[in-house]
Amino acid sequence: MTIKIKKVPTHIAIIMDGNGRWATKRGLPRNLGHKEGVNAIERTILACLKYGIKYCTFFAFSTENWKRSKEEIEGIFNLLREYIKKDDNSFIKNKIKLTHIGVIEPFPEDLKKELLQLEKQTKDFDKLIVNLAINYGGRDDITRAVNSLINKGYKIITEKDILNELDTKTMPEPDFVIRTSGEMRLSNFLLYQMAYSELYFPKVYWPDFNEKYFLKALKIYEKRNRRFGGVN
Ligand code: FPP
Repeated sequence: MTIKIKKVPTHIAIIMDGNGRWATKRGLPRNLGHKEGVNAIERTILACLKYGIKYCTFFAFSTENWKRSKEEIEGIFNLLREYIKKDDNSFIKNKIKLTHIGVIEPFPEDLKKELLQLEKQTKDFDKLIVNLAINYGGRDDITRAVNSLINKGYKIITEKDILNELDTKTMPEPDFVIRTSGEMRLSNFLLYQMAYSELYFPKVYWPDFNEKYFLKALKIYEKRNRRFGGVN
C-alpha cells in the first residue's frame, strides 16, 4: 500500500552511516555491515520509485575513506563491482539512470569501465536518477569547480558559475539530506549544494534502513516549512 504524501523532496541525499557499528554489534566484520548496506540501498531505491522521488544521491565513498584499512576499502570496491555487474540489473529493468559524482580516476580499471558502461546504458532513463558519490568530497568538488573556472579564463565568478561547475550541475540541489546512525555531522558531503537542504538524523543504522524509516523520513520532510531565508 502506498501512503499519500503531499510534498515529497525532488532530490534526497543520504549519508549511509552506521554500517561498521551494525556489524560490530553482531560480532561480524565491518565489511558485512557494508554488504547489508547494499541491501538497504536497494530497498531505498525501490522506495524512491514507489514514492516518486526523482533524484537520490548515496554517499558511498568519501575522499577521506582512503584512510580506512586496505581490506575495508577493497571490500567496498567489491560490493560496488558486484552491484554494478549484477545480471538482473534493476537499473535497466526499472528504467533508472545511474550517475556518479566524485573523482573515479584512482579506482580499479574494471570497476571504472563497468560503471561508465552502465551509466551509458541508462543515460536516457529519467524516472529516477540514482547518483553515487564515490571518492567524493564537498571541498574537493568546490575546489575543482573553481579551478575549472580559472582554467576557462574567468576573472570574477558568481554563485551560479560555481553551481554550474560542480559535479551535481545536471541535478537540483538536495531538498532533503538524511544521515543515519544518529551522528550529526555533514562529513564533507555536498557542502555547497546543501545551503538550504532540510536535514534529518534518524538513529537507525544504515543496514536496518527500510521502507518504514523511509516513509517516516518523508513525513518529517512533509512537515518542514522551507523559507529559504525569507518569511511566510
Ligand atoms: C559509513 O558507515 C559507510 C561507508 C563509508 C561506506 C558505504 C558503502 C556501502 C554501503 C557500499 C557501497 C556500495 C554500493 C553498491 C554503492 P561506517 O563504516 O562509517 O559506519 P560506522 O560509523 O558505524 O563505523
